[in-house]
Amino acid sequence: MSLVAAACTGETPQTAFNPRSEYATAGLDLFVLIVWMGVIIGVIVEAVLIWAAIHYRRRPGDRLPPQIHGNTVVEIAWTTGPVIVVGYILFVTLPVIFTTQAPAPSTAMNVNVIGHQFWWEFQYPDASVVTANELHLPIGKAANLILHSDDVIHSFWVPALGGKRDAFPGHTNYIWMTPNSTGEFPGQCYQLCGYSHGNMRERAIIQSQADFQAWLTAQQQPAVQSTDPAAAEGAQLLQTRGCAACHTINGTAAQGKVGPNLTHFASRGTLAGSVLDSTTANIRMWLKDPPAVKPGSIMPNLGLNDHELDVLVAYLQSLK
Ligand code: CUA
Repeated sequence: MSLVAAACTGETPQTAFNPRSEYATAGLDLFVLIVWMGVIIGVIVEAVLIWAAIHYRRRPGDRLPPQIHGNTVVEIAWTTGPVIVVGYILFVTLPVIFTTQAPAPSTAMNVNVIGHQFWWEFQYPDASVVTANELHLPIGKAANLILHSDDVIHSFWVPALGGKRDAFPGHTNYIWMTPNSTGEFPGQCYQLCGYSHGNMRERAIIQSQADFQAWLTAQQQPAVQSTDPAAAEGAQLLQTRGCAACHTINGTAAQGKVGPNLTHFASRGTLAGSVLDSTTANIRMWLKDPPAVKPGSIMPNLGLNDHELDVLVAYLQSLK
């Protein structure tokens, strides 16, 4: 258990040993049960083996022991033993599979989760909210994640919330769970999906119901129109440098659907597939040469000069 305890603490937050939903707990409980079964069986088998090796070791003057071919009792025992063990694992696993694969309760909140090379889009269809990379969910309410992909196969996985599940183009998968504590929990695309598969991260942000509602309401607002001259110039530049062809900023002419929705970019703590913290230096680094940060990024190097970078960063940071 100390191994399990060590895995729960500190530096490794992306762990399945820290379950924060009933789905994740069910998976961990099964894992721990099967590990303990393996430990107990392993100890018994090793003990018998060592005892037999010592007790029946060759002594001086021993003759060749009787040579037998098969022993019906032993054959039956070591066939039925493993069948019972594996049957028991099946017996405890099947109900968990059926429970976690069942359709979500009708009261669940639907979230469309869409995999892109190399970032996640999250749509809250009942609230007309679209965001990227950071999945906000309220505590204590079932969330029904409706998984799609826009290009290749990805796999959605936030270990604290439960098992991984693939996001396909042209096919819908589902995961549902009820988060049971607040906090930020990192995750990772789990299906090799191209050059930057390893840079395709996400995080789940579990909030109190009130905080979640406040977040959702803020996300429903159109983009702020900053009066800061640099931000205003950046807003202009975003339209003229082609960014608007790929990105949507609600309330502006930018209505592209290729890249993340940027309406409330500055409300997110991370960018670029949740790989970078949303600091001034990081946003600038990303805009300067996206494929250098995420190899294979669809967002090209636009060759922005220092001034253009400054005003675009100012505009993006104004999009609270
Ligand atoms: Cu998307 Cu790996």
